[in-house]
Amino acid sequence: MPSKLFSPLQFGPYQLTHRVVMAPLTRMRAAQPGNVPHALNAEYYGQRASKGGLIISEGSQISPSGQGMPATPGIHSPEQIAGWKAITDAVHAKGGIIFLQLWHVGRISHSSHQPASALPIAPSAIAAAGDAFTASFERVPFETPRALETGEIPSLIESYRHAAANAKLAGFDGVEIHGANGYLLEQFLQSRSNQRTDRYGGSIENRTRLLIEVAQAVSEVWGADRVGVRLSPFGVANDSGEEDPLPLYTHAIKELAKLGLAYLHFIEPRASGAGQAEVDHKDVPSAAELFRPLWPNVLIAAGNFKPDTAEGAVASGNADAIGFGRLFIANPDLPKRLKKGAELNPYYRPTFYGGGAEGYIDYPTLDAREAAE
Ligand SMILES: Cc1cc2nc3c(=O)[nH]c(=O)nc-3n(C[C@H](O)[C@H](O)[C@H](O)COP(=O)(O)O)c2cc1C
Repeated sequence: MPSKLFSPLQFGPYQLTHRVVMAPLTRMRAAQPGNVPHALNAEYYGQRASKGGLIISEGSQISPSGQGMPATPGIHSPEQIAGWKAITDAVHAKGGIIFLQLWHVGRISHSSHQPASALPIAPSAIAAAGDAFTASFERVPFETPRALETGEIPSLIESYRHAAANAKLAGFDGVEIHGANGYLLEQFLQSRSNQRTDRYGGSIENRTRLLIEVAQAVSEVWGADRVGVRLSPFGVANDSGEEDPLPLYTHAIKELAKLGLAYLHFIEPRASGAGQAEVDHKDVPSAAELFRPLWPNVLIAAGNFKPDTAEGAVASGNADAIGFGRLFIANPDLPKRLKKGAELNPYYRPTFYGGGAEGYIDYPTLDAREAAE
């Protein structure tokens, strides 16, 4: 049977030649000071680009307050825009397509990352359980964040709009709004982190409002057909998790569908939200399968996919494309390997976050390995 994974896909205004997508992957290797993407990062992304293949960048903070880990890149300063431009050039030189992931971590931060060492912001003053990653690479319990005033929300939305415009200047082909994994937009969506009593809290409609307003603002910059949203309805990363996700996400997805966005990107619950642990949950619902009927445009599913399950998900129609995270870290030429049914390099977890070239740009390609044999 011909492979569905390697059949073309209309993706907003773009034509993908295959459906093996590089999922967003934080690697904490931006240059300091200023969290600026640099030549090493351009080499990494360039290695992973393929003709007509889609890359979604690592989460990039939309503003200084959006940062929650050391050395993550931003998209709010002129230096960062210039740094990203070299990356988009490297991907385009190989005929690839690259979207930027717009990220605000909300309460999953620490005052050491914040302007004037202020407390991180969040929908409500409720600390996440677990440990923050400080600017000096220490792990300390999350602080209780400061609840945003209603009057501050328009300027938060403006930060998203501004970051989206910066992504355009940096030569990206579109943007993905990070609405998953326990970060700011998901903190607004879910009742465990959102106890507000204004129009951004309480009912499902109210909790969904910020996500929709951000998606509208970003779509005004890019056109909705160059904008996607990432959600993790059944995820538990970063102390997230709605007790009854179905009504919340049914509403959110229906509202997002009205905007005509290019795509929706699910993290399936089979993997821990950010792939931090080796888990392979069974008997949990597939978000792609459940919500497919509500989503008219492209649907990307990610989360612990292997070559056979990826092909199966696309063949069944539950997903149009598959996001690969850890396998793309270890296999710069992943689409080629999957197409050939070639062996995959194993990934090495200790070099996922932070450091330099090791475990970043030194995973061999198939060609390099064959030449060495
Ligand atoms: C090192 C690492 C960094 C990640 N960074 C991000 C990120 O910046 N944004 C995001 O939405 N997901 C992030 N994720 C989640 C991945 O995109 C993906 O959903 C997850 O790894 C499951 O897919 P996999 O089983 O193919 O790795 C990260 C995962 C890993 C392992």
